Amino acid sequence: MYLCPTMTEHDFLSKPYTNTLEKGQVTWQSPSNIALVKYWGKYGEQLPKNTSISFTLSNCFTKTTLFYEPKTSSDFEFEVYLDGQREAGFEPKILKFFQRIEHYIPFLKEYRFRIGTTNSFPHSSGIASSASGMSALALCLIAMEQQLNPSITTDYFNQKASFLARLGSGSACRSVEGPLIVWGEHASIPGSSHLFGTKYPFGVHKNFDNYQDTILLVDKGEKQVSSTVGHELMHKHPFAEERFAQANSNMEKLIPVLREGNLDAFIKIVESEALSLHAMMMTSMPYFILMKPNTLEIINRIWKYRNETGSKVCFTLDAGANVHILYPEGEKTQVYDFIKKELVVYCQNSQYICDQIGKGAKKL
Ligand code: PMV
Repeated sequence: MYLCPTMTEHDFLSKPYTNTLEKGQVTWQSPSNIALVKYWGKYGEQLPKNTSISFTLSNCFTKTTLFYEPKTSSDFEFEVYLDGQREAGFEPKILKFFQRIEHYIPFLKEYRFRIGTTNSFPHSSGIASSASGMSALALCLIAMEQQLNPSITTDYFNQKASFLARLGSGSACRSVEGPLIVWGEHASIPGSSHLFGTKYPFGVHKNFDNYQDTILLVDKGEKQVSSTVGHELMHKHPFAEERFAQANSNMEKLIPVLREGNLDAFIKIVESEALSLHAMMMTSMPYFILMKPNTLEIINRIWKYRNETGSKVCFTLDAGANVHILYPEGEKTQVYDFIKKELVVYCQNSQYICDQIGKGAKKL
C-alpha cells in the first residue's frame, strides 16, 4: 500500500521569498459546495470532528479581486467591497481571518489591500457565501505568495489554498477543487487530512457525471443561529460522539455506492445525513430549528414524487431552510417540470437556482 507522507501545520509555513512584489492585483473565482456527509462539530483551530465529503458546485461562486500595494506601517490595512460598494460589515470577519493566517502568510502587514468581491447568487439568498468567499480570498493570497516564491508547485498551491480557506470557514476548504472533495482524516481514504480538503481518490460511476443540484430558496432571511454557534453547541451535545461515528461510517458506506452508481443507497445516505444534521440542532441545548414549514413541504413532495415515479431525485440541506435537490443529469427535464409544477410555490418569491457538480476554482 502507498502511504502519503502526512502533512502537518509546519508544512504550510512560508519558505523564504526569492522575489519581491510591487503594486498589483489578482482575481480568483471559487465555487460553493454542498456536503453529502456533513461537517458539524469542530475542535482546535477549525479542525473537524468527523470526515465530510461534498460536491463542488459550478454556477454558485464568488469572484474576488485582491488589489495590493506595499506599505510600511505595521498593522493590517484593508477594505472590503461587495459589488463595488464598501462593505465594512464584512471587515471584522476578514480581520479575524488575517490574524489567524498571518503565521502562514507573513507578508499580510506589508501590503495595503482592497478586496473586491461579487457573488453569482443573489445577495441574502440564504446561500452561505462564506465557503466560496473565503476560498476565493485564500486563493488570491496564495497566488501572491507564488509570485514571491515561484517554486511553489500546483499540488502545494491547492493544499495551502484549502488550508488557509479552512481557517476562514471550515467548509471553505472543500471549495478549491472538484468535483468531489473529502475533508477530515479517514482510515479508508488515503491522503485525507484534517488540515485541508483533498480530491476523492476512488472511482466514481458515470451516474454521477454532471449531477444536478437545484437550490430552492425557501427562506432568504438571516439565519437565527449561525453555524459558528451550532458547531460550538456540539461540545456538550449528548449525541455528539454517536453523530461523529455515524458520519464516519456513512463516509465508508459511500465508497462502494459512488463506485457502483447505486442511486438508491446514495439517496438513503444523503437524506439521512441532512436530517441528522438538523436533528443535532434540534437536540442541542439551547435547541433551535432552521428548517421552515416549506422545507418540510418540499421534502414530503420529493418523497411522494419518488414513490410515484421511481425517480432518483433526493434532497439535502445545509445549515438553513433552503433545500438542495440532487438528481442525475438524465432526469433533468422531468425534475425541472416537477419543480416548476409542485415545488416553486414553496420558494420565497418563486426563486430557485439551477446548478450542477463542478471542477473547482479558477484564476481569471
Ligand atoms: O463552514 P461552516 O463553519 O459554515 O460550517 C458549515 C457546515 C454545514 O454546511 C452545515 C455542513 C457542511 O459540511 O458543509
